[in-house]
Amino acid sequence: MRASQTLFLLLWFFCIYAPTSFSTNVTYDHRALVIDGKRRVLVSGSIHYPRSTPEMWPDIIQKSKDGGLDVIETYVFWNLHEPVRGQYNFEGRADLVKFVKTVAAAGLYVHLRIGPYACAEWNYGGFPVWLHFIPGIQFRTDNKPFKDEMKRFTAKIVDMMKKENLYAPQGGPIILSQIENEYGNVDEHYGPAGKSYIKWAGSMATSLDTGVPWVMCQQADAPDPIINACNGFYCHQFKPNSNSKPKMFTENWSGWFLGFGGPVPYRPVEDLAFSVARFYQLGGTFNNYYMYHGGTNFGRTSGGPFISTSYDYDAPIDEYGIVRQPKWGHLKDLHKAIKLCEEAMIATDPTISSLGSNIEAAVYKTGSACAAFLANNNDKSDENVTFNGNSYHVPAWSVSILPDCKNVVHNTAKINVASTTSSFTTESLKEKTGSSGDSSTGWSWITEPVGISKTDSFTKFGLVEQLNTTGDRSDYLWYSLSIDLDAGTKTDLQIESLGHALHAFINGKFAGSGTGTKNKAAIKVDIPVTLVAGKNTIDLLSLTVGLKNYGAFYDLRGAGITGPVTLKSLNNGSSLDLSSKTWTYQIGLKGDFGPSSGSSGQWNSQSNLPTNQPLIWYKTNFIAPSGKEPVAFNMTGMGKGEAWVNGQSIGRYWPTNIAPNEGCTDPCNYRGSYHASKCLRNCGKPSQLLYHVPRSWLRPEGNTLVLFEETGGNPKQISFAIRQIESASSHKSASPLPHKVLSCFQGASSNRAALDEAIVELDYQGDPCEGVTKSLAVEASCA
Ligand code: GAL
Repeated sequence: MRASQTLFLLLWFFCIYAPTSFSTNVTYDHRALVIDGKRRVLVSGSIHYPRSTPEMWPDIIQKSKDGGLDVIETYVFWNLHEPVRGQYNFEGRADLVKFVKTVAAAGLYVHLRIGPYACAEWNYGGFPVWLHFIPGIQFRTDNKPFKDEMKRFTAKIVDMMKKENLYAPQGGPIILSQIENEYGNVDEHYGPAGKSYIKWAGSMATSLDTGVPWVMCQQADAPDPIINACNGFYCHQFKPNSNSKPKMFTENWSGWFLGFGGPVPYRPVEDLAFSVARFYQLGGTFNNYYMYHGGTNFGRTSGGPFISTSYDYDAPIDEYGIVRQPKWGHLKDLHKAIKLCEEAMIATDPTISSLGSNIEAAVYKTGSACAAFLANNNDKSDENVTFNGNSYHVPAWSVSILPDCKNVVHNTAKINVASTTSSFTTESLKEKTGSSGDSSTGWSWITEPVGISKTDSFTKFGLVEQLNTTGDRSDYLWYSLSIDLDAGTKTDLQIESLGHALHAFINGKFAGSGTGTKNKAAIKVDIPVTLVAGKNTIDLLSLTVGLKNYGAFYDLRGAGITGPVTLKSLNNGSSLDLSSKTWTYQIGLKGDFGPSSGSSGQWNSQSNLPTNQPLIWYKTNFIAPSGKEPVAFNMTGMGKGEAWVNGQSIGRYWPTNIAPNEGCTDPCNYRGSYHASKCLRNCGKPSQLLYHVPRSWLRPEGNTLVLFEETGGNPKQISFAIRQIESASSHKSASPLPHKVLSCFQGASSNRAALDEAIVELDYQGDPCEGVTKSLAVEASCA
């Protein structure tokens, strides 16, 4: 064999068999995560893989990269992966390995928050409900059955990642992992057993030998070597529990979550940018946006209870995967500015000084590098600040960033990105009539029986708690009773329930409903009823709207009609307590047509489509809207229920749950401390009208939509909402300069001398939005 042939074969062998990437060493010190020996200033963002589809992942991740992220963070959702003990699901939206590899392919790092407690407005905080039924178990405390299960699942995920070589030392993207989640917020309720649990969790995680650091968030007593990190709207005041750990912000809430019955929360980007910049200003080196893309709670995955199906979160990338402007673009500018400071930031701690009332300067200075952050913490007044002999105008509640300690390249309150509004066009639902026995209306239906209809019903003395009874196999539990009366009467049926909602039927007819709210799940309702002489049936349909996900002992909170249930003032003036009668129970509905695309069942297809009646299954075949834009169903006209497209649940819908008329602030003053109810919009309107249908779940035609409607609606009113991907409007363009300054700095920053030269040449100081002359000078120098 000739030498050239040998060389070719060697090269070929190397290309085929050699690892595609090289081992990366990740450690930390008091300043930062240290990657291959170099401290790093990192920007991270949360994307929860099951809240979008594998088809959407590459685009969302690329947009995250384009927005200046280095790291993608996700929880691991135990109940998604192990719905039945020992039976695993890592397919489709649950394909964690594929998600991590997709992030790696984009050249980004991963922070894997294994938990396995997640919180995350996710059903039961991520725990599988079967866990609750293990004898002797107590969640999140020093309890052997719980610790055994937690360790088993954590080890399973770690092993899976290792087998795929996904940890950084193996050449993979995972540089960080989390164990538990915000236990420090609740640990006082668990006493000494909570303290020992957290120590155990730390050593259990460390023993799994991932080769990358572990964090705990909101855990002041996180045991070494676990890094304790901060979550909140602001974390600049946070200090880790040891001087050898870096200051990390694992959840900077980019907005807030929506609940059915509530208005839509949003967080102005000026305030979010302020929070991020303050964090980096005061020594932080890792900020994670929770969420960067929020997405959708498909199926029955939302927790809460009452968390909406949309988990948009006002994140920089919206529910549909489209960048939200100016949020995304303004943060991108901020990230560029911070990266320009990286060299100085990693070299030293900041020197903090006060430049006036509520004016704080931080300077990172070492050898050749100097970066400064000037913060005006006043929530009303702009200030002129003198720093290093120069004067700077710093608007109220903002931070100016000076990567050379002289020139401002970014101010968090000055947006130089055009806004876009997310608009939708309406398209009617093109039902395909005639196919699969549909009526001329395009819809067919099946009535769900009131009360007990399944053979596996059972009787029990007294009223039962719902979660213990259903094991969350269904949202629904029927409580059924028949009573004999000597004479007919009009009276009130009083029902007390732990939540989350209920519908009452008397003698087969709908009598009334009750519902809790996001802040108060429990229900107490008085429903006027008419009873007849002789036998009366009382059928109560109790339902959950996502299991609790947060709080001490949240897993024991319970749901359902635990009573009392009373018939008040009968003819003789007495009340009749029904709580201790023998009730008949049925878990779930008789029909289960969603997952099968309605292929089973005796569907009615006459033209007299029943509308505005409770407990009906509806089905239609439809043609998908053409084009590639994201699509949603506008559920106007429907009441409450769940919808399936081609067998996949797009989630619970509830367009009749309306936000209160009062309490909205739109626009909202970004100046001053933000909190979850500060900036709200959409008052007096349905909390959620639009329900995302991922494009990849649709075929051009021959699609099936199945609905289960609980309270009554008219499916003929459902339409498509097509998300318009608009070009940026020219709403805002203060000055093109900051972008040019940034790109100039950006280009030059790899070469310190060139950067200095560019700055000297520009002799450019103060507010970068000031003048066109300077803009031109920057442009010339960049060119
Ligand atoms: C945090 C929690 C997250 C999420 C967030 C609110 O406390 O760690 O998982 O629930 O609150 O969106």
